[in-house]
Amino acid sequence: QLFGADTLIEKIKDDLSVPQAAWIISLCGEGGLGKTAIAYETVARYAAAAGFTRIGWVSAKTLQLLPDGALLRYGSAELHWNNLVKKLADQLGIHLGDNSSGWISDFQRGIRSLPPSERCLLIVDNLETVDDVDEVIQYLGSNTLANPHKILLTTRHALLGKVQYLVERHIKGLELESALRFIRSLGNDAIEEASDDELRPIIEVTEGNPLLIKLFVTRLLTSHLPLAFVLAELQAVNQHLGRNIIDYLYAESLSVLEQDCGKDAAHWILNAFCPLGAGESVSYEALRSYSGIEDEETFRKTLRVACDLSLIRTSKLNSRYSIHSLLWKFVCDH
Ligand SMILES: Nc1ncnc2c1ncn2[C@@H]1O[C@H](COP(=O)(O)OP(=O)(O)O)[C@@H](O)[C@H]1O
Ligand SMILES: [Mg+2]
Repeated sequence: QLFGADTLIEKIKDDLSVPQAAWIISLCGEGGLGKTAIAYETVARYAAAAGFTRIGWVSAKTLQLLPDGALLRYGSAELHWNNLVKKLADQLGIHLGDNSSGWISDFQRGIRSLPPSERCLLIVDNLETVDDVDEVIQYLGSNTLANPHKILLTTRHALLGKVQYLVERHIKGLELESALRFIRSLGNDAIEEASDDELRPIIEVTEGNPLLIKLFVTRLLTSHLPLAFVLAELQAVNQHLGRNIIDYLYAESLSVLEQDCGKDAAHWILNAFCPLGAGESVSYEALRSYSGIEDEETFRKTLRVACDLSLIRTSKLNSRYSIHSLLWKFVCDH
């Protein structure tokens, strides 16, 4: 059961239903926010009613955070495009030739020669790295697909402005009410009976990220440690759990930021959040001045890349900037 997701699911339903709307729909946000769960729920509820006659779902997942906090990393073999296209084609009932080197063009041709009454929905789930996203665009981009078909992507990276015909839905952490209901649904009697104030610290530290909430409650139940201990464990950036969480939430984002903007600018812009409290937001001017990045162009570029990578989040029409409180701990305790 999903909590607090209905409004968003209805919006995505509309994105899927309206034929002339953008035909790439991207659900975007850091790891664990529920992109896959929401995509799944929307497709299960509404894909048929929205007029899709064929559905293909593939996952490019390479990372998993287990309930005990261990981080599982698969090779990215799954992402090999020929294989993904083959899987999609099999589900969509599109025939590909024997020679695998021709699969991508077979697929493109197969889709184009479907009768107009057939509408395909392609879901490409868990695009975790920037390369993954670039490849999807390259192989399933505008040359391949167009009306009446649609692609639903889930990704950690913002694509708006880089891809045409796109609508982007940003997934946020659960609001207080939904988070409380979710926590109580996961717990035992003691958790169910705990007051809102007792549970609030869980929501503060996880910022309503459903995966982190699950991880937290599992840890609480299995460790038999006091809540404050489990909180501390989650925030302990030099320990396994803390490090794994950062790696999972921001898979490769930190290193991509360094690569694209230089190590110094990357560190400076994230360190600019350290004078604030965990989870607090800051204005553009203050962020710029705290970062100490003198050249405005460099600052702007670093800010843009960090936002695209879901490291920095914007609110109130880009007038405020913030980072997740666990990322704050990670950056500012180093
Ligand atoms: N709104 C929600 N209510 C309850 N559980 C949720 C919600 N969103 C996600 N979850 C659960 O949290 C976990 C992480 O969700 P997932 O969809 O895998 O995140 P993402 O794809 O963004 O990394 C899953 O176990 C999922 O079932
Ligand atoms: Mg996912």
